[in-house]
Amino acid sequence: MKIALCRESRPGETRVGLTPDAVKALVREGWEVVVARGAGGESHFTDAAYEAAGATLADQALGDVTVRVNAPTLEEVAQLPEGSAHLSFLSPLLNLDVVRALNERRITVLSFDLLPRISRAQYMDALSSQATVSGYRAVLTGATHFDRFFPLLTTAAGTIRPAKVLVMGVGVAGLQAIATAKRLGAKVRAYDVRSAAKEEAESAGATFVQLGITADAAGGYARELTDEERAAQQAALAAEVAAADIVITTAAVPGRRSPILVTTAMVEAMGEGSLVVDMAADGGGNCELTRAGEVVVHGGVHIVGMANPPAAMGAHASFLYANNVLKLLALFGSQGQWAPDWSDEVVVGVTVAHDGHITHAPTAEALGVPAVALSAPQPKEND
Ligand code: NAI
Repeated sequence: MKIALCRESRPGETRVGLTPDAVKALVREGWEVVVARGAGGESHFTDAAYEAAGATLADQALGDVTVRVNAPTLEEVAQLPEGSAHLSFLSPLLNLDVVRALNERRITVLSFDLLPRISRAQYMDALSSQATVSGYRAVLTGATHFDRFFPLLTTAAGTIRPAKVLVMGVGVAGLQAIATAKRLGAKVRAYDVRSAAKEEAESAGATFVQLGITADAAGGYARELTDEERAAQQAALAAEVAAADIVITTAAVPGRRSPILVTTAMVEAMGEGSLVVDMAADGGGNCELTRAGEVVVHGGVHIVGMANPPAAMGAHASFLYANNVLKLLALFGSQGQWAPDWSDEVVVGVTVAHDGHITHAPTAEALGVPAVALSAPQPKEND
């Protein structure tokens, strides 16, 4: 069977779904691979490198399994072969039209953002790999907008105090932000509503901010706070934010708008020259003043709204993503043959639609259609 690697059409995207090394691994495994010309150009993977890895090149890559990073547009869906399979970060609840169009073409739809967060699936967890890139990049972005040092410096020309960084939201991205800010020499404090986050933040080198508000939900995620909890949280966080030179926010609640953690009043209490780096800008932002892809200056404070943070490091983000794709595809087939095990919880968990039916219950509900459970094919009587 043939795997098609597409060029990303999202403005500003630099990532690509497979690297030449990943293509080589697939070809060795027995898959044919077709790569859209220029697909890896933004992340420095040349057409010649894909060809040398065993791929064929085409102006438009079409195959039995399409690999992308971002959801396709409706125009791109219309080009996909009926009955094929598609893999990307689809965010199905935010892209219902695209899911409907894919399903009408009986395309098997796989979305990385639905992958179960279980130990066995860590190797294929693209949410985590891309969050690692985002967390690292957020600190570097902060450093470039900050006109002061991060580390303690004792020099003949005077002593410089270390920068004070506050990380809000200690998931995968937040932990990487803590570790990166520590490596640069900052004093790091961190805050989250999940009870497990304290130990994780401390192990990465931060001092944990205890506010007494916990919001644990299923699957290790945070739930949305109530209005009272949100008000109590904002009041308690005001002093923490005011004391920080750089606030890095990463807080997200799956399927919902990012919670507001930093209000305009909190920004107004920050010192001149301090910063908010908002990694949740694409989901609406954790700061009231955030605008995705822009730097807002408010009373001497810069609010940096990071749009698509992993795209700032296309080469390594693609390397990690491609490795996740290889591991996930290995659950859907081997030796070039498509043979998903529909009784595997990871295979089922990541599948949004199959064979003309929506299989992911929340997406089916949002589309107003019945969800059809996936099941392993039953053995025939004389098997
Ligand atoms: P995420 O991107 O959904 O959210 C980022 C962080 O924001 C989370 O730590 C969340 O608790 C926090 N947050 C949400 N609302 C908040 C609020 N109002 N105030 C402060 N903080 C708030 O999280 P991510 O990075 O995707 O991780 C989610 C969970 O999955 C974590 O428990 C993580 O440890 C776990 N995980 C497990 C994996 C595995 O076992 N395979 C792999 C990756 C993550």
